[in-house]
Amino acid sequence: MEEFIKISDILDGKYDEKNVWVRGWVYRHRSSKENIFFILRDSSERIQCVVKKNKDFFNIADKMGIETSLYVYGFVRKDNRAPGGREIEVEKLQIIGQSQNFPISKDISEEFLLDVRHLWVRSWKMINVLKIRSTIFNAIHEFFKKEGYYYVQAPFFVKTSESGLEMFEVDYFGKEKLRLSQTAQFYLEALIYGLEKVYTLGPSFRAEKSKTARHLTEYWHCEAEAAWMDLDGLAKLCENLVSYLAQSVLENNKKELKELGRDYKILENIVPPFPRITYTEALEILKRDGIEVKFGKDLRSIEEKQITAHFNKPVIVTHYPKKVMAFYKPRDQKNPELARCLDILAPEVGFEIIGGSERDLNIDEMKKALIEQKDDPRNYEWYFDLRRYGSVPHAGFGLGVDRVVMWFTGVPTIKDAIAFPRTIERTEP
Ligand code: 4AD
Repeated sequence: MEEFIKISDILDGKYDEKNVWVRGWVYRHRSSKENIFFILRDSSERIQCVVKKNKDFFNIADKMGIETSLYVYGFVRKDNRAPGGREIEVEKLQIIGQSQNFPISKDISEEFLLDVRHLWVRSWKMINVLKIRSTIFNAIHEFFKKEGYYYVQAPFFVKTSESGLEMFEVDYFGKEKLRLSQTAQFYLEALIYGLEKVYTLGPSFRAEKSKTARHLTEYWHCEAEAAWMDLDGLAKLCENLVSYLAQSVLENNKKELKELGRDYKILENIVPPFPRITYTEALEILKRDGIEVKFGKDLRSIEEKQITAHFNKPVIVTHYPKKVMAFYKPRDQKNPELARCLDILAPEVGFEIIGGSERDLNIDEMKKALIEQKDDPRNYEWYFDLRRYGSVPHAGFGLGVDRVVMWFTGVPTIKDAIAFPRTIERTEP
């Protein structure tokens, strides 16, 4: 079998004035009397191919529909008129998979593109986003490896919950009702007693009825937990992770960012330290901007966005009011109305990408908070055991990976940051 050359290697000039075999899909197609021009796409790049009138496969090439897959053999020529500066003059052409009437053409609605997402993932926009997404997922593993964290996995059928009732229920063999996991946190907390520093990367499921550009019902959640860590250590870990991800994308995906039309200057600025403010200071900033928020209320998305407008880096907001926080976020001893927790809000998009905290070690406090949020403390007995046997101070966080992909790529909705989004309204393809 012939050796097939990556199109990007041809555009890099490694095969000028040489014959090559390439394979891929027809991306664009246009005919004139004398020539057929088509753009061939593989995963690496796109290149213009030209079929001259005198070729015996001219008619076949003329009828090829968009997304036909094929092998092409031809001569590589530098040509400044061709997109990418090089062109293949086709000598042989073999169709592998026919494609007629590909349903995606110009001027198609966003909704239709979601209906045919299984085909739209071949678009150059989605290819670019998914390459950046791949860098981010790889970089998460690299970062935690470098920091000495163990990669662990938690179950997805659970009885525990992050915030009470917004969970998907699963009928488990007609015997019991389970929930789809919103967080791996409780299991990571169990694992730190053996491994001290752990992280995981997997889906989380949220049944919130939020129809916004930043909510999925199934999203990818990177979570970490470390024994002996306090809020300050946690903030440093989070800012180091976010900057590592930004720098990895800059290192690997400048081309993709450019093609997406992303002005990536701000990503160059994502280096530690990130500004840190308390919730109380956040309320003061908002007040100066004419937005009055009563102490004790959680920040709404417009308020988060307003705060980020003051910073050109992610901002770490700490010490939210205890009473609106999840049951496991501990009181601050200096000011018991506040919890020892943090959120990280991203600039530009203006939303939360990370939520984290120290963990409460006081079982009675946690039981009280669970009852207040109408959850059943009996489902958390195993979790309380972690406080009964050799408890240690510890802390952890969760990062919404799809939100980071959305922010870094500059796509307008989280649905474009993942190949097959799941939202309230969308469960296919
Ligand atoms: O703030 P959250 O709810 O925190 C937790 O689940 C903690 N148990 C994590 C931990 O400490 N181990 O979620 C963490 C992050 C949010 O900051 C947000 O970026 C993302 O998960 N997130 C979502 N992303 C997409 N769609 C949704 N519906 C999301 N809900 C949360």
